[in-house]
Amino acid sequence: MKFLYLYVIFIAGVLALDKNKAQIFHNQLGYCEPFTVEFIAGLVSKEARQILDPGSRPRQKQLRYDLFTRQNPHKRQVLLTGDRNRLLTSNFNASWPVRLAIHGWNGQTTTCSNAAIKDAYLAKGDYNVVLVDWSDYSLDINYLRVVVEISEIAQKLNEFTRFLHNQTAIPYTAMYLIGHSAGCHIAGMAGKLLQPDKYGVIYALDASGPVHRTLDAKWRLAPTDAVYVESIQSDVALFGFPADSLAHASFYPNWGLGQPHCPNVTTMEPDFTCDHFGALYYFVESLRNPTAFGAIKCKSYDSIVNYKCGCGARWCSASAFMGGEPAVPKKGVYYFSTRATMPFGYGALCRMKRPLKPTIARI
Ligand SMILES: *[C@@H]1O[C@H](CO)[C@@H](O)[C@H](O)[C@H]1NC(C)=O
Ligand SMILES: *[C@@H]1O[C@H](CO)[C@@H](O)[C@H](O)[C@H]1NC(C)=O
Ligand SMILES: *[C@@H]1O[C@H](CO)[C@@H](O)[C@H](O)[C@H]1NC(C)=O
Repeated sequence: MKFLYLYVIFIAGVLALDKNKAQIFHNQLGYCEPFTVEFIAGLVSKEARQILDPGSRPRQKQLRYDLFTRQNPHKRQVLLTGDRNRLLTSNFNASWPVRLAIHGWNGQTTTCSNAAIKDAYLAKGDYNVVLVDWSDYSLDINYLRVVVEISEIAQKLNEFTRFLHNQTAIPYTAMYLIGHSAGCHIAGMAGKLLQPDKYGVIYALDASGPVHRTLDAKWRLAPTDAVYVESIQSDVALFGFPADSLAHASFYPNWGLGQPHCPNVTTMEPDFTCDHFGALYYFVESLRNPTAFGAIKCKSYDSIVNYKCGCGARWCSASAFMGGEPAVPKKGVYYFSTRATMPFGYGALCRMKRPLKPTIARI
C-alpha cells in the first residue's frame, strides 16, 4: 500500500508536467497512439487490481511480432514463433532485410515512436519491419520486475529470430535490432544468446541506465552482442546510460543532456521523457537522410562529460555520421548537436554548442 501511495504521487507529478499534447509528430504517416498520462494512470489501476486480486495477474506472458512491409505499411500482420502458416501467408520476404524495433518500459508497438521507425524504413525501401511487442511485460508500473524479466524476454526474441532463420534461410547478419531504452538491453541479451552467430547490427537508442549502469556486461548490452553496435545517448542525466561501454561507437547529441527541441516538439511522449526519446527521433531522421548528423570524434567519454570535444571553431567538419541505413561501422566517442526544430540535423558540419540543462531541470 505504501507503493501505491508513491505511485499516486508520481502520477500527480506527471499530470502537473503534462501540458498540451495535441500536436502530431510529423515524422510518421500511419496511425499511432501517443504516450499519454491516462495510459500511465491505467497502469497504476492495473497494479492496484493485481495487488487486490492476485489471480488477475497474467500467468503466461508472450511476445508478439507485428510485421509491416510496403504491402502493408499501416496494418500489421501478426507473426508468432513457431507459427509457419502465419509466416508463409504473410508479406514477409526473405530477400528483404529484417529490422526489428524493440520498445522500452511502458511501451507497446502501437506507439508513435515505433510508427516513426517503421515509416522511415518503409519510406526508404523494401524491408521486413517487425515491431516487437513485449507489452505483456512492459506495461508494468514496477520497473524492477521488468528488469528481472529482461533475460526471459530476450530469450523469446532470440527464438523468434531463429525461427525466421530456420524457415526462410535469411542470414542473422541481415537482421538489425533497434532498441529504445530497456529494449536495448533486450537486444543485447538476445545477441548474447545467438553466439557464436551474430546479428548484423544493434542500434541502441538511449539505452536505459537506472539499474543497468550498475550491472556487469553479461546482463546488459555490450559491443560483442552484434557484428556492429552503435549507441545514441541523448539523456545520460536521467533515464540513459552514463558511459561509453555499450557499443563500438557511442554518439552524444548535445552532450547527452538537454535536447534543444525539448520539451516542445516530440509531443508524443510526456515532457519529462523528451530527452530520452530524442535519440530515437534523431535516428529516424538519419534513416531518411544518412548525412543529417555530422559528428566529431572525441578522445573519450570524459571529453563528453567535460564538454571538451571540438576543433577550436564554432563549426567543425564531420568525422562521421550518426545512424543511417545500412549502418556504417565506426569506432569511438562522438559529439553532435541538433536544431530546436525539425529537421534536427545540421548536416556535414558539426555545430559546437554549449550544453543545456536536462529538460527535467527546466520544466
Ligand atoms: C520478394 O522480393 C523480391 C525482390 O524484391 C521479388 O523479386 C519477389 O517477387 C518477392 N517475392 C514474393 C513472393 O513476393
Ligand atoms: C532451428 O533449427 C535448429 C536445427 O535444425 C533446431 O535445433 C532449432 O530448434 C530450430 N529453432 C526453431 C526456433 O525453429
Ligand atoms: C516551448 O514553448 C513555449 C511556449 O510556446 C515557449 O515559451 C518556449 O520558448 C519553447 N521552448 C523551446 C525550447 O522551444
